[in-house]
Amino acid sequence: MAELDKPQREIDVPSDWTYASAPESRDIVQIRERYGLFVGGEWLEPAETYETIAPRDEEPLAAVGQASPADVGRAVAAARTAYADGWSSLPGSERAKYLFRIARILQERSREFAVLESLNGGKPIKESRDVDLPLAAAHFFYYAGWADKLEYAFPNRRPRPIGVAGQIIPWNFPLLMLAWKIAPALACGNTVVLKPAETTPLTALLFADVLRQAELPPGVVNIVTGDGRTGAALVENEDVDKIAFTGSTEVGKEIQRRLAGTGKKLTLELGGKAANIVFDDAALDQAVEGIVNGIYFNQGHVCCAGSRLFVQESIYEPLVAKLERRLTTLRVGDPLDKNTDVGAINSAAQLEKIRELVASGEEEGAEIYQPPCVLPEKGYWFVPTVFTNVAQSYRIAQEEIFGPVLSVLTFRTPEEAVEKANNTPYGLSAGVWTEKGSRILWMAQRLRAGVVWANTYNRFDPSSPFGGYKESGFGREGGRHGLEPYLDFEESEAFGG
Ligand code: NAI
Ligand code: MG
Repeated sequence: MAELDKPQREIDVPSDWTYASAPESRDIVQIRERYGLFVGGEWLEPAETYETIAPRDEEPLAAVGQASPADVGRAVAAARTAYADGWSSLPGSERAKYLFRIARILQERSREFAVLESLNGGKPIKESRDVDLPLAAAHFFYYAGWADKLEYAFPNRRPRPIGVAGQIIPWNFPLLMLAWKIAPALACGNTVVLKPAETTPLTALLFADVLRQAELPPGVVNIVTGDGRTGAALVENEDVDKIAFTGSTEVGKEIQRRLAGTGKKLTLELGGKAANIVFDDAALDQAVEGIVNGIYFNQGHVCCAGSRLFVQESIYEPLVAKLERRLTTLRVGDPLDKNTDVGAINSAAQLEKIRELVASGEEEGAEIYQPPCVLPEKGYWFVPTVFTNVAQSYRIAQEEIFGPVLSVLTFRTPEEAVEKANNTPYGLSAGVWTEKGSRILWMAQRLRAGVVWANTYNRFDPSSPFGGYKESGFGREGGRHGLEPYLDFEESEAFGG
């Protein structure tokens, strides 16, 4: 009897089931203290430099060049020389070999690039490793395949290269946007001056090393770092034949004004405010995954992010309940941790923009939901957010937030869904969730968006063209369409005129 009176021994059962940290080692990548500008295959010493940091903790990573208009001029001259000295007249099958080599080297060095991308940009390593890097390599493979088949892509149109392409890219997919721009330009026989975004220059600078490894002739690709002033100098340089820009609508418009009447070619890939539309017959759990992927992928720093969710009224309550529950399982934190779902916001400026727009949503009367979440002390972070009770006129339903913030609206009929979805100055992408194939086709015909995903979201493939309507820009990247902006055609001759 006395035995039973003994106090029960406490058994050591773990009660905390959260993930243990699983950091990716950063030793695989060697970051130099200082980077010059990659011009004519050499590192040019810039007069001025600035510091690039890691947004996860504001750690300084390296000093990089702020290229002046004169530096940009040198890069353009190097590109012009390389163009005239053989690159443009090289047989397509020879150009293809370089592109294949670049693709292979990117695959071989993908872990190194993925770590650097996450460190400098803040995106989860899971994404840079499984999305950015494989897709960047796939783009080079894909366009390598076209380099000797341009005559077949455009029969009877005598495609030829256009010259020197100036390419300005943003910070949300630094290496992937580099691949989207450089691969088709080189496949078509052009040379390039590329300007990465000021907050994420490091993978582009590491890419210069890949170009050397691939023995690409000097000057075929030049990389000039710096902020908007460097971009503007590239736009204004008289010896550039084409500008390809991805970034804000505001700067896109400015570039278009600058280039009006100059005869330079231009493609613009700008912002978005995509509608992700869920009908009452959709598989709800799958739709929830698609919604989460649509808006919280890359912290919502995605031009085609599904930032406006349209839910058919009859399923509004169960869907929002499932979505909010799903949000509590998202892990926000260190981009280099393999378990992280949502990483760091790219910059202090972007964080400020997100905060300002979220405050406006609360002020205008929307209801905010944020899951319980412990954010790191240093660095730039924002909790994944859902707004319900949103009216079409609210700023959070109209403006691009470019952060992990979703606005939920409702509709009753397919006609109403189309009308509300198209009620935006943008038109880059959309998503439709329904069991019915006929409804998917009906919707896809009516949605004014360059890409319409059905029962999925944020899927990419190099063979599929991507681009916008209205203020989302013009021109297409990817696929056979993506070759066209990098070619001139002798159509009048071909058609006897
Ligand atoms: P931004 O448009 O200023 O920057 C994009 C690129 O353009 C960078 O390389 C930048 O240095 C360059 N640039 C800036 N001013 C220029 C000029 N006058 N001439 C030539 N190049 C110039 O975008 P920012 O300020 O980083 O972001 C502001 C907003 O733009 C974001 O909050 C987001 O809404 C949107 N954005 C959209 C992107 C997209 O993929 N569609 C990408 C980045 C931003
Ligand atoms: Mg800007």
